[in-house]
Amino acid sequence: MNGVAQDGYYPGLEGVISSQTAISNIVERDGAGVLEYRGYRIEDLASRVGYEEAAFLLLHGDLPTRLQLGDFNERLRAARDLPGPLIRVLGELPGSASPMDVLRTSVSLLAHDDPDRDAAATDHAANVRKAERLIARMATAIAYRERLASGLAPIPPDDRLGHAANFLRMVTGEVPSEAMRRAFDGSLVLYAEHELNASTFAARVTVSTLSDLHSGIVAAVGTLKGTLHGGANEEAWKLLEAVGSPGRAEAWVAGALARHERLMGFGHRVYKKSDPRAVILKEYCREIAAEKGDDRWERIAEPIEVAVGRKGLPPNVDWPSARLYHYLGIPLRLYTPIFAMARVAGWAAHAIEQIDHNRLLRPRGRYIGPTHRGVSEIDRR
Ligand code: CMC
Repeated sequence: MNGVAQDGYYPGLEGVISSQTAISNIVERDGAGVLEYRGYRIEDLASRVGYEEAAFLLLHGDLPTRLQLGDFNERLRAARDLPGPLIRVLGELPGSASPMDVLRTSVSLLAHDDPDRDAAATDHAANVRKAERLIARMATAIAYRERLASGLAPIPPDDRLGHAANFLRMVTGEVPSEAMRRAFDGSLVLYAEHELNASTFAARVTVSTLSDLHSGIVAAVGTLKGTLHGGANEEAWKLLEAVGSPGRAEAWVAGALARHERLMGFGHRVYKKSDPRAVILKEYCREIAAEKGDDRWERIAEPIEVAVGRKGLPPNVDWPSARLYHYLGIPLRLYTPIFAMARVAGWAAHAIEQIDHNRLLRPRGRYIGPTHRGVSEIDRR
């Protein structure tokens, strides 16, 4: 049944257009994937703008002027601190709780404290303000929780630093080098938006009932957690470690494919030839590995890519991001939460677009169960 359409039934909704969107566009051109945010190519954005500019573009529709960016940065920085009740919960949830579960709870708690909590679900300006606060606060919540779960004191946000550098400092305690900041910032830009993927669709479905923006983002975080979606970046790192040396790659991949295992960080529902985000991030990986003077993981990754590529499965964004985050000293359990803290810009842009042009998202199921059954007495069943 894999992906084969039958009489209006499209398993996994593959190829189905559920919404019109002006936020991003994915196409395959000349055998390569092309991704644009609001008409700007991802290659240009990743090399020329930081996460804040990309988030502004997604939420507000255009790249900011210098003045607009200054105001946006000010609003984000002013919103970074967490409300007291959330800080308490971050310290109280069991240390074994998955960081994605904690993030889901955090977004839910942030809804109660939001100054626009009582605004109408259809209030565009209030939704944009909520989105901006979520962008700022999700990053702080992830970092605070990581420190608390490790028995360390949280590091408060630093107003002098941008989104990427401030987050790395809040997690590791150190201000990153400029190359590291740029690579991490680039990864956040690349993760910020990706059309009607599963988590974005979940957010759109939720707000299409005229539920609130935070509920949409809670649904999206829960959806991203799965290993077929955002959870793949953590699994990609485990794959690299399991292979362990360049010489083992060929046999390891052949064995895994023979056992019909999913190789995490490879394949994509839309990109069948190449994921442009993976191409860009691979360059950042090389750069940072060189800066650190240790290319061991690059040397292991290459033959794995070649072996999996022979099966027609290109690496996706999660494959290089796993290595990059390792180089940056980020704990493995934060890889997927980082995807979420970047993607919240795209989720929110989509949720707002959905609400602004709403039609309830309510598909049909094709019934394949038994029919016309009579209800017998309970003792006769
Ligand atoms: N490893 C091994 N085989 C694969 C893989 C993979 N990563 N991806 C696809 N296949 C095979 C699959 O087994 C199937 O083979 P067959 O037809 O013989 O049964 C065929 O390719 C088609 O697979 P599918 O599951 O129908 O394709 P899909 O469009 O649903 O797959 C995917 C998309 C992302 C779920 C899949 O490629 C996958 O599971 N990849 C690994 C998880 C991953 O890296 N996810 C991150 C995606 S990018 C970031 C994000 O959006 O989160």
